[in-house]
Amino acid sequence: MSLRARISTPEEHGSRGEDGHLVASYRAKLLEEIDLAEMSSLAAAERRARLERVLGHIISREGPVLSTVERSQLIRRVVDEALGLGILEPLLEDASITEIMVNGPDAIFVERGGRVEQLPLRFVSADQLMQTIERIVSTVNRRVDESNPMVDARLPSGERVNVIIPPLSLTGPILTIRRFPRSFTLQELIAFGSLDEHMVYLLAGLVQAKFNIIVSGATGTGKTTLLNALSGLIPSHERIITIEDSAELQLQQTHVVRLESRPPNVEGKGQVTIRDLVRNSLRMRPDRIVVGEVRGGESLDMLQAMSTGHDGSLATVHANSAEDALTRLQTLASMSDVEVPFVALHDQINSAVDVLVQLTRFADGARRITEVALLDSHGGEPYRLATVARFDAQPMSPDGRVYGAFRYFPLPRRTADRLYMASQPVPQAFGVARTADQLATREAR
Ligand SMILES: Nc1ncnc2c1ncn2[C@@H]1O[C@H](COP(=O)(O)OP(=O)(O)OP(=O)(O)O)[C@@H](O)[C@H]1O
Ligand SMILES: [Mg+2]
Repeated sequence: MSLRARISTPEEHGSRGEDGHLVASYRAKLLEEIDLAEMSSLAAAERRARLERVLGHIISREGPVLSTVERSQLIRRVVDEALGLGILEPLLEDASITEIMVNGPDAIFVERGGRVEQLPLRFVSADQLMQTIERIVSTVNRRVDESNPMVDARLPSGERVNVIIPPLSLTGPILTIRRFPRSFTLQELIAFGSLDEHMVYLLAGLVQAKFNIIVSGATGTGKTTLLNALSGLIPSHERIITIEDSAELQLQQTHVVRLESRPPNVEGKGQVTIRDLVRNSLRMRPDRIVVGEVRGGESLDMLQAMSTGHDGSLATVHANSAEDALTRLQTLASMSDVEVPFVALHDQINSAVDVLVQLTRFADGARRITEVALLDSHGGEPYRLATVARFDAQPMSPDGRVYGAFRYFPLPRRTADRLYMASQPVPQAFGVARTADQLATREAR
């Protein structure tokens, strides 16, 4: 069910108290006389005006005793209800919009095709915006008010919603809606220029040969999207367990167990963390563990799982480069309650992580894989990264686009051997390094 359909269900929202009853009953009468779908071609203001007119007739006909103020309040509430989310409605229906950002009543921004633009729209008042926000968060039984001024929620329709209100926000109520990310196939990602056939060929081999892969990138660079597409390469006879904070992955295989963490309730109880789920998943005979985003102590459990037989696991981490991703995993693992010496962590990462895939969002909005690197170090050695694919970007061209080219480098012998053992070919574009100097390696601590 769409967000709009859910939010305008009268049973859920209109039935609180007698007043709510009146609103719900007039809303039903209004919808009997008017077909909202037929009105979809009208501009928002015209739609509202027409609804108000028709409702005015209905109220006059039924003749309840109302003062002028009560009557106009009733009309406003019924029409608001009928229109659902008001000016946000058309934005939510527009599939090209991936993010809606409301910075107070007067500033509405959207992201389309990776670019952010301000729209010539505004809410009548901060109050009206607040009502819309309340309507949205009430669909997931959450509340937003001064004692609870921040809400982060996933709606039943998949959208992720974040609300923060004054006094924490200094510019009125702030609403951010992230569209449920559409899943893209690797072919579609190739069409976007996010990667190319050679890289898909390589990544497919690495996934099938059960290399442990970490997808890394900053916020909104397409980590979840790529993780989803890569997970699609896992053979269908394997048992996959996905672990996420807000379930976004949409795997097509039949043998998939989906786990989602749970925030604490209002009394601060009942929390189940990603870490709890990672630990539990180890007792569920997984062939593959897919962790949506590693952002806490679960890093340690995941690294341990990866280096003790749960090969072929996939995860994302928030980092700006392949090196940073390693450091971040290390820092997160050291934040866990178990004290692990630095050297042991280093060792753990060297034996757990096989591949790093770095994503970058460019100034023109394009999201691309900017590096595929193999972790080619052992034991307590400093991390040694062998770049096998890289995107070399040019400065932004006058047409506002960022052009560039993917480049490939030979695979370490060890990687080629592992692919061979798993009956996966070494893609020709890469080849195998015969000597150490043919590798595009660099060291990191
Ligand atoms: N390669 C791509 N090309 C174009 N759009 C993309 C690409 N990858 C992702 N997107 C779009 O970018 C938005 C963010 O993608 P996604 O949720 O995968 O990013 P993320 O890095 O996981 O974000 P977060 O840090 O918030 O978890 C989505 O709307 C998604 O559809
Ligand atoms: Mg994500």
